[in-house]
Amino acid sequence: MLIIKNIKKLVQVEEAPRVKVCGADMGQLTCIDNAFLLIEDELIKDFGPMEQMPKADDNTDIIDAVGGMVFPSFCDSHTHIVYAGSREIEYIDKIRGLSYEEIAKRGGGILNSAQLLHRTSEDELYAQALGRINEIMRFGTGAVEIKSGYGLNTEDELKMLRVIRRLKADTPLTIKATFLGAHAVPTEYKGRQSEYVDLIINEMLPQIAAEELADYIDVFCEQGFFTTEDTERLLMAGLHYGLLPKIHANQMAYSGGIQTGVKYGALSVDHLDYTGKEEIKCLLHSETMPTLLPGSNFFLAVPYPPVRAMINAGLSVAIASNYNPGSSPAGDMKFMLSLACIQMKMTPEEAINAATINGAYAMGISDTHGSISRGKAANVFITTPIPNYEFMPYAFTTPLIHKIVLKGNLLG
Ligand code: NIG
Repeated sequence: MLIIKNIKKLVQVEEAPRVKVCGADMGQLTCIDNAFLLIEDELIKDFGPMEQMPKADDNTDIIDAVGGMVFPSFCDSHTHIVYAGSREIEYIDKIRGLSYEEIAKRGGGILNSAQLLHRTSEDELYAQALGRINEIMRFGTGAVEIKSGYGLNTEDELKMLRVIRRLKADTPLTIKATFLGAHAVPTEYKGRQSEYVDLIINEMLPQIAAEELADYIDVFCEQGFFTTEDTERLLMAGLHYGLLPKIHANQMAYSGGIQTGVKYGALSVDHLDYTGKEEIKCLLHSETMPTLLPGSNFFLAVPYPPVRAMINAGLSVAIASNYNPGSSPAGDMKFMLSLACIQMKMTPEEAINAATINGAYAMGISDTHGSISRGKAANVFITTPIPNYEFMPYAFTTPLIHKIVLKGNLLG
């Protein structure tokens, strides 16, 4: 048994857990002041004000939060952290004025990462990804979704997914794997895009399903990448193997990706920089979580999605880091909170809901993660003493995460 005591504020407490938080409710965050948290067998067992803290016995470990706050760990529902090397040279091209699409057209971007990954052994890829996992754990992330998509051929896509499987087994993070074979059209299929879609459907998916390597399927549904027709074929094939969609949609244009995702019951549609009235209406009549990735808007210096219109319409919103080498080489969810608040004008309460409970929903784990609730996974972090929770997004470069508990164990 583990008790965390003297918690200045226990944040995001739920007596009756919800699967997600929508519209005006996103502005509410339930907290308990001067609290304790009791953890047993990797789960949250109880919580309440200090005066109700149960007596500790000899088998109880105690952590004194000494005035720090306790948050549920972040649920980062969109990342690409299994990749080889880095792409800072393209970053220089970007600074000199080339757009993401222009870099991709020259064979840079995702295709560049695919070449690097092809030359990298599975063990080396694992070592690089593990470094990033350790990094994001220290940033307070307790659950993460990781995509394939830098393989773009059967062997290399399988290599990526096997690395994700090893990370699931070896680390205390909760990890969900998403198959993203349709991330870019490989050079050898240029002009024969539908044949590449056939390859994904007929060769990659059956092997991935046979080895149970993926939880979800993703498609980069975007102009210059995959059409809505390609996306429909891929999502139908994925559903045949029990893989729910989580797709890249409307990042660079009104691509129809949001409508396609909703039509196929996507768990989330992600990016959404181009979201208008039609898209909002479509999302309102769905169970799909709109997921915003402010790290890429920041890094690519492009306008942010219309989050206020979305929340005012009654939608839920999640935020994720999109940690990847091309559009967001950053996995710090606290920084994503700051971007959500400063750049997208979300309130701190909305941003925290978006990065915890709604992020959990976007990766299919909101019954077990995303809030301080009895029976949920004991994934929490303790901050240094801070005046209030608004300080988290406000102090946008200060490392405030002091101690981390994952699956009930204090990270050493
Ligand atoms: O979500 N947009 C597509 N995929 C990533 C970028 C991947 C890359 O550039 O390596 C994203 O932004």
